[in-house]
Amino acid sequence: MMETMTHKITLLPGDGIGPEVANAATQIVEASGVSVEWEVFAAPLKDGKRVGEFPREQAVESVRRTHVALKGPMATAVAEGPPSINVALRKELDLYANLRPVRNVAGVSSRWSGVDLVIVRENTEDLYAGLEHTVVPGVVESLKIITEYASTRIARFAFEYARKNGRKKIHAIHKANIMKLSDGLFLSSIRVVAAKYPDIEYHELIVDNTCMQLVMNPAQFDMLLLPNLYGDVVSDLAAGLVGGLGVVPSGNIGDVAALFEAVHGTAPDIVGKGIANPTAIVMSAAMMLNYLNEIEASRRILGALDKVYRAGKHTTRDVGGTGTTQEFTRAVIAEMA
Ligand code: NAI
Repeated sequence: MMETMTHKITLLPGDGIGPEVANAATQIVEASGVSVEWEVFAAPLKDGKRVGEFPREQAVESVRRTHVALKGPMATAVAEGPPSINVALRKELDLYANLRPVRNVAGVSSRWSGVDLVIVRENTEDLYAGLEHTVVPGVVESLKIITEYASTRIARFAFEYARKNGRKKIHAIHKANIMKLSDGLFLSSIRVVAAKYPDIEYHELIVDNTCMQLVMNPAQFDMLLLPNLYGDVVSDLAAGLVGGLGVVPSGNIGDVAALFEAVHGTAPDIVGKGIANPTAIVMSAAMMLNYLNEIEASRRILGALDKVYRAGKHTTRDVGGTGTTQEFTRAVIAEMA
């Protein structure tokens, strides 16, 4: 038996179905053979409803210490209230790389087979810097910020990821034919990095063409590297190619910390019914274990998920099955035994 170390991990179960799917994920992580001490932060709940504020500062401080977090979905008010905890964590911990692997899941119906994509999205700037102002009534200006620093940093992340994970090809996605300066700088920064990785094929593709190509022939792509806004849109499009947000993981990664989360929402329509599909957060937990260098445990979880999906007996309703969250969780754990 190898010596095991205990990982301290911040757990933010979230709202709605968050606690249900997070509970499934912690059970599965613990059954995978790793030793974890969870630091849990959640808003106080009564009868499944939030009755107080989320302890945001304590949660951020915990991630600063543990360097790694697993998060369920959280309800965020639209156009009011404080920024979401995601935004707070991304900013305060400088989680500059959004990583979204997109693969077919056995037994989940989708238009395409053979999809195996990794999307890397720059997470800190572009139009999402939130710099907007009214110039005169009726005219609003929203600033698109692109820097050589952030573009070079995300390019390094993508090429390093490719090398470490046996990926062969990266497409940088842009609209530099129109936004010659901003997307032009994004591309020129990436080219400098790409030149240092002759083992990785490098291509550039305009974002509108990319969307068409993804819908028509997604298997041609290996990794996509995008600025923030295109990355947001294209990564959801790509999730749609393999069955939607319920079956894709995500990670927000920086140099000192990382946050892994399901990208679906709190699913208010099925809260408390015990039928939520925990696949996305479980896959995100597997990604987190990979990040923590628990490669075997990560593979064990993904292998068990694959078997449960192939057998199709215990999958949840959203993917055409009849299983409950707990039945699905028990089946995944049984496959790892
Ligand atoms: P949603 O993803 O919560 O729900 C859309 C549909 O997908 C619903 O029919 C829901 O039942 C279903 N669904 C989602 N996740 C599922 C799962 N794991 N298993 C089975 N079915 C699932 O999106 P919606 O309704 O737009 O958002 C609801 C709330 O979630 C909002 O307050 C929103 O702000 C929040 N949200 C939070 C996110 C996060 O924290 N990362 C991301 C997206 C939304």
